[in-house]
Amino acid sequence: MSTATLEKITSLCKRRGFVYPSADIYGGINGIYDFGPLGTVLKQNIRTLWQQHMEQTGKKIVFLEGAIIGSHAMWSASGHVENFHDPMVDCTNCKKRFRADEFNIATTACPSCGLKAWTDVRQFNMMFSTKLGASEDNSSIAYLRPETAQAIFVNFKNVMSTNRVKIPFGIAQIGKAFRNEITPKQFLFRMREFEQMEMEWFCKSEDADEFFEFWQNTRFNFFKSIGLDETKLRLRPHASDELAHYSTKCTDVEYNFPFGWKELEGIANRGNFDLSQHSKHSGKDLSVYDNETQTSYTPHVIECSIGVDRLFLTLLFDSYTQDSVEGQERTVLKFHPSVAPIKAAFLPLTKKLTEPMHKIYTNVKSETKLSLEFDESGSIGKRYRRHDEIGTPLCFTFDFDSLEDNCVTVRDRDTLKQERISIDQIENYLIKTLGR
Ligand code: GAP
Repeated sequence: MSTATLEKITSLCKRRGFVYPSADIYGGINGIYDFGPLGTVLKQNIRTLWQQHMEQTGKKIVFLEGAIIGSHAMWSASGHVENFHDPMVDCTNCKKRFRADEFNIATTACPSCGLKAWTDVRQFNMMFSTKLGASEDNSSIAYLRPETAQAIFVNFKNVMSTNRVKIPFGIAQIGKAFRNEITPKQFLFRMREFEQMEMEWFCKSEDADEFFEFWQNTRFNFFKSIGLDETKLRLRPHASDELAHYSTKCTDVEYNFPFGWKELEGIANRGNFDLSQHSKHSGKDLSVYDNETQTSYTPHVIECSIGVDRLFLTLLFDSYTQDSVEGQERTVLKFHPSVAPIKAAFLPLTKKLTEPMHKIYTNVKSETKLSLEFDESGSIGKRYRRHDEIGTPLCFTFDFDSLEDNCVTVRDRDTLKQERISIDQIENYLIKTLGR
């Protein structure tokens, strides 16, 4: 039975080295986190799976790594300086600040002090601004990007003219984004510094609806392929009053978190809004010449956009399970093998058996290149519990009989089934079980 709560997930993340509050020794920073050794591997697995999934569609997609700091001109043209706002109210009594669209301020008292003493609603721009260089005038204003997408749009012509791509094709990017969220919350769900994986698919306007359907379904299947519970996933089309300033149509892939159905990924039809805006503001022609019709046109864009950290949190909620083994409560992350940070642990039953097991571990690691861990400290029961809790699918144990029969015991994280296999079969067993 899964009994995941935000508190349990946050505590597991810290206890096992997935995620720490940023600069924890100074008390942390609201909405900003550091990723520990296991979190770093899990994040890398997420990026790799996303990239592989994009490549496996067979569609032409190239990758880009744009800058994080962008000019005022660029973020003005994109509409973010003018429109990237959240409505905000302050409580005049306790001075706490809230997003005004999260409850009805006409009828609701302050969740912090219980009084109803709101300021007027003001619009708060969520971009972090900075100044470039030593001068203090307005021409030096720049912003940390609130989405990775704009680097793709402003490089569209560069990519087209320097690569063997033609419409339709995609440009994808993985990288940090920053939003000065008024109320960061729910751990990794709404952060101020986070990471996005975005793919902008450039196509002719008449093909946009068909590609929207394609990407919506393809992205939905991605989540199933990495083991997310299908019954907790749904596609939800946006109502017209929910659309961002740049999009004409949007569907969210939502996940049923303990705090409700929430957006995991957005698939949006951005039309030719971005390329047209950048063309207008930069004075550069971003249209494409169509040899067939002998006319120029500005491509339309279908966007798939997801947060690495939000998917990280979703995977934790989806895999978190508590059950009981021989009367003892255990916590297990039932990660899909492709997601698990450590694929298998190699455990000598006692430290006297370290040497032969370490040799096996080193050989298997160098042959398979898998993320494996050698772990010799503590009782075998404690080591099993630790690997259950960090989601390691398999544990191999070397005992005194192994010296005689050249076999190890392999234990399955989910079924707890144990079987004896020959040492020279470990690699095959790993490949078969992990589905590689
Ligand atoms: N380029 C389009 C765009 O940025 P968005 O819906 O604002 O659209 C896309 O963000 C995805 O980025 C979301 O579905 C979510 O997974 C992630 N995301 C957005 N804001 C986030 C935040 N404050 N913290 C963590 N992830 C966030």
